[in-house]
This record gives sequence, structure tokens and C-alpha cells, in this order.
Amino acid sequence: MKKKMINLPFFSIPLLLCIASANAQNQGVGFGYEGRNGPTRWGSLDPHYTKCSAGKLQSPIDIHKKHALYNRRLGSLLNRYHPANATLLNHVCNVAMFFGGGAGDMVLNGKNYTLHQMHWHTPSEHLIDGIQYAAELHMVHQAQDGDFAVVATLFKLGHEDPFLAKIKEKLERLIEDKRGGNTTAQVEVGEVETKHIEHKTGNYFRYVGSLTTPPCSETVSWTILSQVRSISKEQVELLEAPLDIEYKNNSRPIQSLNGRKVEMFHKLSHNHRKVDHIN
Ligand SMILES: *[C@@H]1O[C@H](CO)[C@@H](O)[C@H](O)[C@H]1NC(C)=O
Ligand SMILES: *[C@@H]1O[C@H](CO)[C@@H](O)[C@H](O)[C@H]1NC(C)=O
Ligand SMILES: *[C@@H]1O[C@H](CO)[C@@H](O)[C@H](O)[C@H]1NC(C)=O
Repeated sequence: MKKKMINLPFFSIPLLLCIASANAQNQGVGFGYEGRNGPTRWGSLDPHYTKCSAGKLQSPIDIHKKHALYNRRLGSLLNRYHPANATLLNHVCNVAMFFGGGAGDMVLNGKNYTLHQMHWHTPSEHLIDGIQYAAELHMVHQAQDGDFAVVATLFKLGHEDPFLAKIKEKLERLIEDKRGGNTTAQVEVGEVETKHIEHKTGNYFRYVGSLTTPPCSETVSWTILSQVRSISKEQVELLEAPLDIEYKNNSRPIQSLNGRKVEMFHKLSHNHRKVDHIN
């Protein structure tokens, strides 16, 4: 995997994160979520994928709230998002939204990470206290040096997610295109206000891990928002419908922590008794 992001043409970005594609013949080896190309085999599918099996900082993980260490210095998430024109894409192994010129920055340890794309996994990849949720949104940011910062939101089944509700027709277009045989369809979404997507309470978990798809590069600072949001059953189906059967469940099994520490941050509440409950 190339680490330098600078001056990459727009459509190099999807391939970095989702090498499985309709033209996998040219782009690397396709991976899947079961059987011959399933997660336990990823490391041997391609010489570039060895981290998937040999890596010691792999994602996703099961987050045990009780063992997460409070770190005041992490601070509130610092974003400078701006409205950006977006393209919804059938990315073969997931449904993704790309922001051509980026949608602003997230600052982490003094470093800028630009929001380039986001995508959904069903069911969730990260678990909290052993619970797997219905879906997980990954907002993928990348710094100039190639490092990633991904902000994950978990969704339980319930009422509609307002952002997905807004792009319902665009998601339906991906499904129509798929029926028409176009498995890598793109739909222009127009301007998206990314700052409205991340409804945050300010509480989150942080750990160092990897991409959850090959090449499983261990260059990701993960932020898992502790507030679990809601998604309707119909919306989960909309996210799965454009994908081939082997990618409808596109959740990598949890990986070993190997001694890593999960940290957490929560805004100090005036009511001290609430401090322990970081939801
Ligand atoms: C989005 O695209 C439209 C049409 O090309 C353009 O007028 C608008 O300025 C763009 N918005 C942003 C935030 O780049
Ligand atoms: C991060 O980007 C902003 C513009 O969005 C810029 O003002 C700032 O200097 C950058 N910071 C670093 C550390 O590069
Ligand atoms: C998704 O696949 C994983 C194995 O890769 C399996 O453990 C899990 O039960 C599946 N989930 C659903 C909802 O089918």
C-alpha cells in the first residue's frame, strides 16, 4: 500500500481502502467475508495482506468499558468540517460516500487528518461489552503522511437515522443500478454537511489499530463514539441491497488486543455520579 496521499487522483482513494472490486483482476486479490476468501484467509491471499494475519494491532476489537482507561488529555474531538460535494458509491465490499476535495479536518495529537470518505458495515465491527450492533459508520480521515484516523459510530435497530433518511433516494439509485448490472455505480449526492453526521456527546473510546479490510495496515487511530445511535431495519436493508451476497455481512470478526490499552474520554459532568456512565 502506498503511504503517500499527496496528489493522488481522486479515484485512487477508494482502491486504498477496498481493494476487492469488480476489476479485482487488475487491482489486487479479492477478499470476502466467508469461505475461501474469508477473514481467516486474508493474510495469505496476497503478499501485501500479511498484516491481516501476522499483525499485532488489528481491528476491530471488543471494547470492555470497565477496562477502558480515562485519559483527560485526549480532550474533546476537534473537527473543522465544511460542506462538501459528495458521491455515493457502490464500493463492492460496502456502500461508501466520497468527498472529492475532502470535507475538512480532524485534529488529533496536533496532526491534521482530512475527511475523505465514509462507509457503512453491517452488522457492526466493533463490539462494546460483547454486544454487536446492527451497523457501524466509519468516517475515514487521512493525514499527509498516510496515517488514518477513523471515527466509528455504532447503530442499534430502532428509529431512522436522519442522515441516511436524507439520502434514501440516492441509496435506492444504487440498488436500481445494481439490478441493471452496474455493480460499481456512483450517484452524485450534492452538498453534504458532514458536521451534522457526527452527533457527538463528546464521549469516546480511543485505541491504535488497523484498517478492517485488507491490507489491514496498522496505521489507524480509532475513535469509537460511545453514544450508540439508531438505524431502522429498512435502512440496514438499503445499505446491504446494492452489495453482492458475500458482502452483505461485511463485518470482520474481532481481533486480539495483544496488550493494547483502550482509552476513553468523557466530558466531566457537573453531576459527579454521572461520570461513570459514559453513555
Ligand atoms: C458543489 O458543486 C456545485 C456545482 O458544481 C458548486 O456550485 C458548489 O460550489 C459546490 N459546493 C462545494 C461546497 O464545493
Ligand atoms: C491544519 O489545517 C488547518 C486548515 O484547515 C491549518 O490552518 C492548520 O495550520 C493545519 N495544522 C497543521 C498542524 O498542519
Ligand atoms: C457475519 O459473519 C461473521 C463471520 O465472518 C459471523 O460470525 C456473523 O455471525 C455474521 N453475522 C450475521 C448477522 O450474519
